[in-house]
Amino acid sequence: MSDKLVSDDSLYEELFDVEKETAATGGHIVGDLSDQLSGLRDTAAVMKGSLREILNFPEIHQAFNCKREHYTVFSYELCNRALRENLLFSSEVYKESPGVQRMGHVILKMVGKEHLAYRSMVQPMFIRPRAIDWWKKNWIEGSVKALLDRMEGRSATADLNQDLCARLPVHIVTQGMGLSGDSALAFRENLMKSTVQSRSLPIEEVMKSAAEVERMLREVISARREQPADDVITGLVQGVLNLPDEEARGLTDDEIFAYARLIMLAGGGTTWRQLGITLYQLLRKPELWEACRNDRSLIERAIDEGARWMPTDPIFPRLVTKDVELAGVKIPAGSRIDMCLGSANRDPSIWDRPDEYDIYRERKSHLGFGMGPHRCLGMEVAKQEMLVAINGLMDRFPNIQLDMSAPPAELVGGLEQRGMSSVPVTLY
Ligand code: HEM
Repeated sequence: MSDKLVSDDSLYEELFDVEKETAATGGHIVGDLSDQLSGLRDTAAVMKGSLREILNFPEIHQAFNCKREHYTVFSYELCNRALRENLLFSSEVYKESPGVQRMGHVILKMVGKEHLAYRSMVQPMFIRPRAIDWWKKNWIEGSVKALLDRMEGRSATADLNQDLCARLPVHIVTQGMGLSGDSALAFRENLMKSTVQSRSLPIEEVMKSAAEVERMLREVISARREQPADDVITGLVQGVLNLPDEEARGLTDDEIFAYARLIMLAGGGTTWRQLGITLYQLLRKPELWEACRNDRSLIERAIDEGARWMPTDPIFPRLVTKDVELAGVKIPAGSRIDMCLGSANRDPSIWDRPDEYDIYRERKSHLGFGMGPHRCLGMEVAKQEMLVAINGLMDRFPNIQLDMSAPPAELVGGLEQRGMSSVPVTLY
């Protein structure tokens, strides 16, 4: 087990702070906007303008470098459709995002057969049975145990958001890719500086971090070409790409590098925030925590309901490639749409009492992990991380409770990503 996982390195607090993360993009907002999003959805399924324009919030600095006519889609039916029809509502929109541009040619911005060819190379390593047999056994269980041991040995209180939620996913994805757990924090720091935080840093620092990320990943790629191991980079090295009209071939080092960097960026932050949201919601209603403790099959429901009720990333963009009419609104080709998954996941035409976090409700497919061809690659891994973490807490700390003497936890972040400021608990 990596020493870094259980060290008191202050970089954890530096890197895993939703307020800081969103402040770096100019997008920070405190509080829960869910009611406003639902209110907009109840007014119209589609509106002209970006979600930030509609809500009168300033746009994020240079989120997209191409000005386009903008619309926002709020209903479940239309967000679901836009996510599934990826040729009409295209992920190529990400090519205009400077942050994603810097990621190279990655699946996030591919469409159609090209997307399918690249995605199917990694999909087998992320399906549910592999999340259980491989990710959970190799990396998740040991890391959760080490984190619980650390909490047990330190104090009668903890901030689960920092002490568990932040640490776990970054270590899991780093080790799963094939890097050493000890490099997880340094890798994350350089990755964030060279992507998400790059707009607020001097260019020299951004370039230096980008070079470091490249050095660390290319070292593993070369090593796996020489000597295969049991990790995702080995899978990428050995995989066969079947692009239409091209001979089957392996991925180049550049392609593997870009792929690995995307997975590490996507897998290191989202699960942290989503787990914090779910834990806080369960702990603030002790009867729910108790019910899950007594019937562990409810934990999976609680996780799924968390991703419906408060998806950590509530909006995603697409590019409209042909003229289309949605709910009576004519949207010309070349427009950009924001899909508001936050309001879609609380659409009363699908869910009764949609604003309630209800772990007993009938399960229906929601959009918290996206839908259609780009649906989250790491969804099953994220669910296993959350499942093992919550089960572990219940076993280890039977009397755990929210710490009412600590400063109250808040939902922070804003529109593009949101999470808890803290999840303070007493352990005994
Ligand atoms: C609770 C945690 C997570 C949430 C809520 C989440 C959410 C999402 C969503 C909504 C998308 C769709 C983006 C779009 O359609 O434009 C997505 C895509 C993606 N996610 Fe996740 N994610 C989570 C965890 C992870 C993890 C742990 C990994 C990797 C280990 C990961 C890797 C990816 C990748 C690579 C994509 C792009 C897929 C593609 O374009 O085909 N995610 N995620």
